[in-house]
Amino acid sequence: MFKQEVYSNRRNRLRNEVSSGIILLPGNMEASMNYLANTYHFRQDSNFLYYFGLDHPDLAGVLDIDENKDYIFGNDVDMDDIIWMGPQPSMKDQALKVGVENTSPLSALGPFIKNALAGGRQVHIVPPYRGKTMIWLEDLLGVHHSEVKNFVSEELIRGIVKMRSVKDEYEIREIEGAVDVAYEMHTTAMKLANPGLREQEIVGAVEGISISYGGPVSFPVILSMDGQTLHNHYHGNILTEGRMMVTDAGSESSLRYASDITRTVPVGGKFNERQKEIYEIVLKANTDTIAAMKPGVLYRDIHLMAARIIAGGLKELGLMMGDVDEAVAQGAHALFFPHGLGHMMGLDVHDMEGLGENYVGYDQNIKRSDQFGLAFLRLARKLEPGFVLTDEPGIYFIPALIDLWKKENKFTDFINYAVVDAYKDFGGIRIEDDILITDDGYRVLGKPIPKTIEDVERIMSE
Ligand code: GLY
Ligand code: MN
Ligand code: MN
Repeated sequence: MFKQEVYSNRRNRLRNEVSSGIILLPGNMEASMNYLANTYHFRQDSNFLYYFGLDHPDLAGVLDIDENKDYIFGNDVDMDDIIWMGPQPSMKDQALKVGVENTSPLSALGPFIKNALAGGRQVHIVPPYRGKTMIWLEDLLGVHHSEVKNFVSEELIRGIVKMRSVKDEYEIREIEGAVDVAYEMHTTAMKLANPGLREQEIVGAVEGISISYGGPVSFPVILSMDGQTLHNHYHGNILTEGRMMVTDAGSESSLRYASDITRTVPVGGKFNERQKEIYEIVLKANTDTIAAMKPGVLYRDIHLMAARIIAGGLKELGLMMGDVDEAVAQGAHALFFPHGLGHMMGLDVHDMEGLGENYVGYDQNIKRSDQFGLAFLRLARKLEPGFVLTDEPGIYFIPALIDLWKKENKFTDFINYAVVDAYKDFGGIRIEDDILITDDGYRVLGKPIPKTIEDVERIMSE
């Protein structure tokens, strides 16, 4: 964990962001896979981690705004726990490591919350995203689960988003370390992408690298020749010459900060002409938009810049036509680029998404569009120093979507369906990097992972 002051300072700041009452941050519990005792790999709640740092199940943190006090509720291990899990430091000692002096057994949390509610105090929570947490909150707050949402506090959400959006030097170091692990994951995938291998063999190698550095992957690995399926988790294809392989994978640092990187490579190591043409467009969309990043710029404008580069490039190849700006304004490019350019990144790979995307990526000056494509943009607001975000343009040929739009005669002024039809066997290309916004511009985090055609071909030939 970080130094004790990091957590104390964070809690002191958060208390100033919320007017009065108490803030309840439940940690996560174990989640079962197929029977109670067979659990998924444990993942702590990110807000709990950010403010209370302790990375094990069955804990809750409370910040008392009016009394200026913090509490951790959790149990010391008993002999059964020691037999199965080994000895653990006492709750008191663990809490002191993150600057919390008040600890109580978990059973004291219910009466504590009921007492606060009986005294007319506001209890602030963030939206729960796990069933078990919902049941716990139902019990703690003494309401049916349909009423738990009444305790979700916009003030608290805004306070947390304000703080977690700007990463400090320690967090940046963690994220950058996770990107460096992703370097190993992606260059290994590139070297393995040979005809005859099954995708799952590469997935295994990629995941193993992350684990070997002390953390699991930051989200289930996306790796497929069918890159047109944006989040493809089927890994049963045997790699064949002439196709491309998308790998979207990141690592989680030991303190649970994420990286999120995508590379797309030709199976066998040599791009053919058609692949080169599409790849160069995506690469330009990636590098030109990264170069445009600096504080004060709307990320929505950066997204639209990527959309124009993609539409312009596809027009040169004859897949799109007409006025590029108009095509993008109307959303025609979204046939090929149906997602947002990027998202915040930190303790969560889509950072703070559980608090509500509109709180994280939008503000009073910029509202979410409802246009297909642009509506999926997770981050639109002005960039600030300390933000860490992804830049991940892509071009995809999704046969079902192409067929649908063609049947509906959608955007026939902008899309040349006769040419597009010939690309239905292409798959997709995405290139994704993790970027820090600095005081005067940006920094691409981590050791550079090959992405020019030349560099990709070179490393694949090693
Ligand atoms: N890895 C999912 C994403 O890039 O957003
Ligand atoms: Mn990704
Ligand atoms: Mn991403």
